[in-house]
Amino acid sequence: MTAESFTVIGNWKMYKTSRQATDYIEALLPLIENTKVNVYLAVPYTSIHSAAQVAKETPLQIGAQNMNDAREGAFTGEIAGLMLKEAGASFVLLGHSERRHVFKEGDELIHKKVIRALQDDIQPVLCIGETLAHHGKGKTQEVIQEQLSTALQGIPKEEASKVVIAYEPVWAIGSGQTPTVEQIQKTHAFIRAVLGELFGERVGKKIPILYGGSVKPENVFEIASAKDVNGVLVGGASLDPQTFASIIQNIVGGASKKRVTRKKKEKTT
Ligand code: 13P
Repeated sequence: MTAESFTVIGNWKMYKTSRQATDYIEALLPLIENTKVNVYLAVPYTSIHSAAQVAKETPLQIGAQNMNDAREGAFTGEIAGLMLKEAGASFVLLGHSERRHVFKEGDELIHKKVIRALQDDIQPVLCIGETLAHHGKGKTQEVIQEQLSTALQGIPKEEASKVVIAYEPVWAIGSGQTPTVEQIQKTHAFIRAVLGELFGERVGKKIPILYGGSVKPENVFEIASAKDVNGVLVGGASLDPQTFASIIQNIVGGASKKRVTRKKKEKTT
């Protein structure tokens, strides 16, 4: 995943058995054959191996939704990055809102997981976002600053450029509500500025920033047209291959509109 190309990640959460996963991917692949968008699927642990087999030699990348921060150890029921990697995962979601709020993961633990994923050579997708209460109090930027600076503390620049950020306002997840495109752009620009402060402008510009929360085929074009949106993270609407393929097809319009707009701006300046 890079900031130059556009990325869509489907997060299946706790849906689909291994067989359902392979049926889905077989249905999806012909629908996205000619896309220039990077397509990723974060599937349940039990589907990683079979999904990665079906996706082999296709541009589709398979990843996980969580991992432990230890390399290995006596942690009953947990899963290590090296296990995910060998099963076929090339990336891992870390600090998803449901991990933070249902399973009480804090920024320090998420930081350790980011470090471990980098050590285990799995691309970390660090999820951040404010709750409705913080949003209502105008504290979005404060929350995001804290989440980013704790999770990414002490990471060297060359490692930081492998990280992906997914901004998911907690109140937009599964609610059908989304911020306006102007609000999304404002927050993404803020995230870009924080990344620039942490790692320097050059690395800050390279890190892809994805938006997540109630992304659908109907709103993706507009969201994708925001300047600092480099991709989207899709939950519910990724569960059906036709709907997910529609999102991917509709993104191209928004992303290419953005490129055209940028080119025009470059010419006039
Ligand atoms: P929805 O797309 O269902 O709102 O979920 C977003 C999400 O949590 C993706 O990680």
